[in-house]
Amino acid sequence: MSKKVLIINGATREGGNTDTLLSKLSDGMESSGLQVIEVRLRDLNISDCIGCCQCLKEKSCHFEDDMTNLRKSLIATDVIVFASPIYWCEVTGLMKTFVDRLYFFHHQVNRDMISGKKALILTTLGEKEASYESEVLVEFYRRFLGSLGIEIIDMLFFADLMEKDAIKSRPGYLDRAYTAGKRLSTISD
Ligand SMILES: Cc1cc2nc3c(=O)[nH]c(=O)nc-3n(C[C@H](O)[C@H](O)[C@H](O)COP(=O)(O)O)c2cc1C
Repeated sequence: MSKKVLIINGATREGGNTDTLLSKLSDGMESSGLQVIEVRLRDLNISDCIGCCQCLKEKSCHFEDDMTNLRKSLIATDVIVFASPIYWCEVTGLMKTFVDRLYFFHHQVNRDMISGKKALILTTLGEKEASYESEVLVEFYRRFLGSLGIEIIDMLFFADLMEKDAIKSRPGYLDRAYTAGKRLSTISD
């Protein structure tokens, strides 16, 4: 059976660079037989975690919102793509809210439902070089995914994309996203 990929798109800007790159990444993944679903966090209703820790005590979440169904999709998938622009050295608020709500999976019983899955990270940013800008972000992903037992199999950075349509003058980026998508079927085994 073909592998499933769930893309979590944390971009706030409709039709921006992240959206465009994800569409190429999806094309690449689908061309190698992967089943791809993309979820745009900006279209969903996901409340901020209120720190009640019901998830740690009772293995359930206080909220019934779009995260309820999204959790089911996360459990059903093989690979999760976390895609976000860098906002102030970190992910967008949309992505951070989503990640906070993954605390549900911090309870050992729930963690067993998600640990062992693979993750691909896609990051867009405005600065010309990704290396310095991405330090905090890389550490963030490594730590929270590590604590959930999710293995990062690829990290893609696309720098120098400040304007909404900056991607148009970067055809090489589109090729890179497509190739990374195609490669995923081999590295996610
Ligand atoms: C609030 C805000 C904060 C940002 N912070 C950074 C930053 O710390 N480093 C950086 O390189 N780019 C930063 N940027 C630029 C975005 O990362 C960049 O424009 C990105 O490509 C946007 O993706 P999009 O076109 O999908 O919206 C920031 C942009 C905004 C709006």
